[in-house]
Amino acid sequence: MGKLLLAIETSCDETAAAVVGDDLVVRSSVVASQVDLHAAYGGVVPEIASRAHVSLVMPVVAEALREAGIALPDIEAVAVTKGPGLIGALLVGIAAAKSLAMSLSVPVVAVNHLEGHLASVLLADPEAPYPQLSLLVSGGHCILARALSPGVYQRLGSTKDDSVGEAYDKVSRLLGLGYPGGPPVDRMAAEGHDVLAFPRPMLQEGYDFSFSGLKTAVVNYVRANPGYSVADVACSFAGACMDVLVTKLARALDEFHDPAVSVVGGVAASPILRQRVQELAAETGSRVLLPPQKMATDNAAMIGLAGWLRLSARDGEGDGLGFGPLPSLPLSWAPNLN
Ligand code: KG4
Ligand code: ZN
Repeated sequence: MGKLLLAIETSCDETAAAVVGDDLVVRSSVVASQVDLHAAYGGVVPEIASRAHVSLVMPVVAEALREAGIALPDIEAVAVTKGPGLIGALLVGIAAAKSLAMSLSVPVVAVNHLEGHLASVLLADPEAPYPQLSLLVSGGHCILARALSPGVYQRLGSTKDDSVGEAYDKVSRLLGLGYPGGPPVDRMAAEGHDVLAFPRPMLQEGYDFSFSGLKTAVVNYVRANPGYSVADVACSFAGACMDVLVTKLARALDEFHDPAVSVVGGVAASPILRQRVQELAAETGSRVLLPPQKMATDNAAMIGLAGWLRLSARDGEGDGLGFGPLPSLPLSWAPNLN
């Protein structure tokens, strides 16, 4: 057995722990969702999230160790999300990770959550070719980038306002479909028709995105048409989102001809997006890298993978115990390219 790393992720409303080997094989991945605690409020309540992380983090770590069939002393490194995310939520994971690392005398690595999502392509294909055209679509982010090699990113564009996941969550709330919005909106969309002409914001403009105008168009339509079909609104909304995402991906493939396209982040769980990206790749002959559907949304396995990449880039040296949560941590762009 090679070296094993324990990863902890508590940036938002999932308390997650995983055990990942230095061969980048995931030995266990446990996610305790707090969805039920937040559903009544229609979104994540930061204070409730922090308190739930406090009570869940050690049981979730224990479960990850149990599922991997190992004990704490078998762990040789700890990785934890340092940001971006909710400050109180991040703090809980960081405190747990530092305490465990200190008591085991092993290094702790501080991982950028966005790099975690990008590393989740290793779950699709450990031999993923580079450069990759990477679309990161989650509740908090919508970023189009090129990964030139692991950890080296060239920025192409990002959203000027809402992320796609955020638009999904808001439309879901408007349609009375609950939180989080992605899965129920997609389920309804499968029963409807893309017949409502919602806008495709910034479709013709470069690589940036904007989704707040689309969301407003959906709100206006629903208010003006009390007898609206939930399925058709969901389908037309999802169609507009996907048209924008796929058009920008196609434009970038046309410009850069990268051999692989990766789509990561919670919205990459969308069967509609997954199918559209597969179709695009079939047309262009590029390879698609999609994390398994369950690993698209927040989890600690992706933090463990990014943790190993960071540790090996630093010759095994951890980040020490001096780091704290960084709620607005951006992805760091490679110098000279951006
Ligand atoms: O990556 P993630 O778990 O958390 C963040 O880092 O933000 O992404 C959560 C987002 C939510 O907005 C959720 O509605 C969306 O991902 N999502 C989906 C689907 N499953 C989750 N969006 C579209 N279709 C889905 N099936
Ligand atoms: Zn995430």
